Amino acid sequence: MTAPREAKPAGASERADRVRTLFSEIAPRYDLLNHLLSLNIDRRWRRRAIRELGWEAAPEDTYLDLCTGTFDLAAELATRRGFAGTVLAADFAFPMLARGLGKIRSRSVAPVCGDTQLLPFADRTFAGITVGFGVRNLSEPEAGFREAWRVLKPGGRFVVLEFTVPPGRLMRAAYLLYFNHILPRAGRLISGHPWAYSYLPESVKDFPGPGELAGLLRGAGFTKVDWFLLTGGIAAVHVAVKQAVRRPAP
Ligand SMILES: C[S@@+](CC[C@H](N)C(=O)[O-])C[C@H]1O[C@@H](n2cnc3c(N)ncnc32)[C@H](O)[C@@H]1O
Repeated sequence: MTAPREAKPAGASERADRVRTLFSEIAPRYDLLNHLLSLNIDRRWRRRAIRELGWEAAPEDTYLDLCTGTFDLAAELATRRGFAGTVLAADFAFPMLARGLGKIRSRSVAPVCGDTQLLPFADRTFAGITVGFGVRNLSEPEAGFREAWRVLKPGGRFVVLEFTVPPGRLMRAAYLLYFNHILPRAGRLISGHPWAYSYLPESVKDFPGPGELAGLLRGAGFTKVDWFLLTGGIAAVHVAVKQAVRRPAP
């Protein structure tokens, strides 16, 4: 039985609308800019995130990729050698899904247009869940984490790949220079969108650091939460486990 969902606080739905509009508008240029502006490092990060999912324990099961965008993370899982399951890939910006369809042709990835904060799936459906660069965009990350916990099978992992601000002084200075000055200009020039690529650095700066994020995941019900940094702390991977149900001794 699922607990009744709470109403969104005022302002949350406006933020969600703004985010959906933004990604719908930049969808045609999203992939190009993503790989260009991250100097292609994002591909390595995605492979690293999938390694943490532990899908090898249940290669024929069903997995979920949240805020899937143009399916990069979902396709990364579906093309792993030995993977024989299905990936459901959900996003609320339809143009992002439409743009990425070519990547999942003849792959066992099923697109779903849906909101991460109100997932259209039954409790305990998925053996594992991933989300790449998505939770920072949620109007209420805690609501998304509670939904991930609800639809995850006991013993399953929720892997969160997200940008973060590097802890080291030099790396942070270089990163902020790039993020605050170079990326918004290059993004505006290539995408033609007036503010999408200023939103990116703002959303990263406003987002909780890795320790705080781990706390939010615990608050949503995950019992074991570990995290590590990638590329000097530009990105972080959190691995949150939903406790397996203990059966009483016979
Ligand atoms: C930065 S993109 C990441 C896409 C993809 N995961 C990747 O790694 O490239 C963020 C995606 O999250 C989606 N998103 C943001 N909030 C969402 C929500 N509440 N429900 C579903 N999708 C959401 C956006 O539409 C967008 O496609």
